[in-house]
Amino acid sequence: MAFVLDKVVPWGRRLSEYQEMFCLSDRDLLDNKIISFGDGPASLNAEGSKIGGHIVSVDPLYQFSVTEIKNRIYETKAIVLEQTYKNRQNYIWDKIKSISELEKLRMSAMNLFLDDFEKGLAEKRYICGKLPDKTNFPDDSFDLGLSSHFLLLYSTLGWEFHLQSIKEMLRICKEIRIFPTCDLDSQRTNLLSKVIHSFGNTYKIKIIKTSYQFQKNGYEMLIIAKHKKTATAEKVTRDS
Ligand SMILES: C[S@@+](CC[C@H](N)C(=O)[O-])C[C@H]1O[C@@H](n2cnc3c(N)ncnc32)[C@H](O)[C@@H]1O
Repeated sequence: MAFVLDKVVPWGRRLSEYQEMFCLSDRDLLDNKIISFGDGPASLNAEGSKIGGHIVSVDPLYQFSVTEIKNRIYETKAIVLEQTYKNRQNYIWDKIKSISELEKLRMSAMNLFLDDFEKGLAEKRYICGKLPDKTNFPDDSFDLGLSSHFLLLYSTLGWEFHLQSIKEMLRICKEIRIFPTCDLDSQRTNLLSKVIHSFGNTYKIKIIKTSYQFQKNGYEMLIIAKHKKTATAEKVTRDS
């Protein structure tokens, strides 16, 4: 299916949020080659690359120009904020205290992304691509593969989509991490048991409770690892 800009609602998180979601220390960012799928206009790459990280972001959004993405962000942000306000009971307002704080945080992430996008495209840090398509990277090219607010969350994409996407991520990454483990209705997705069933015999699987939570029930991160762990998730794990 074509990825059409006027159906896209770009929305992106900050590096500090990725670090909390995926339990990544500053050292982890510098010591691991990272590929992150469905980053959209998040500032993981802009901020992480600036401090010396090796990060590649993959998203179909990157087929559009910086002006097109910027215009679309400004066209849609009021709608996203209004929807969030209407459904405010579905969120935990402790760290992000209000809709205006949320707006500031998301706009700061997306502006950092916009400022970095053309440079990052030239440096091949932003790659236009979509899961579950096969990427051009050889096996085990990356220490860590991430998916924030895409895989598992959009459960309506179906099991086959998720299965093939996770297979491709595991082909090119030694370990992958997916956050959160709930769906858009804040319910633990039934895709999780299918993932454990399909990959549990071959890979090491862990579900980690993180200190990040904005969406209610969105506090767990799934790890699927081939070898021993690449980053410090366990050090910052809270007991469930
Ligand atoms: C909810 S946003 C999450 C953005 C970012 N990861 C974050 O947490 O701030 C979902 C992202 O998935 C991207 N996306 C949609 N279809 C995709 C696909 N088939 N493969 C990879 N990314 C996709 C969208 O363009 C969008 O940027």
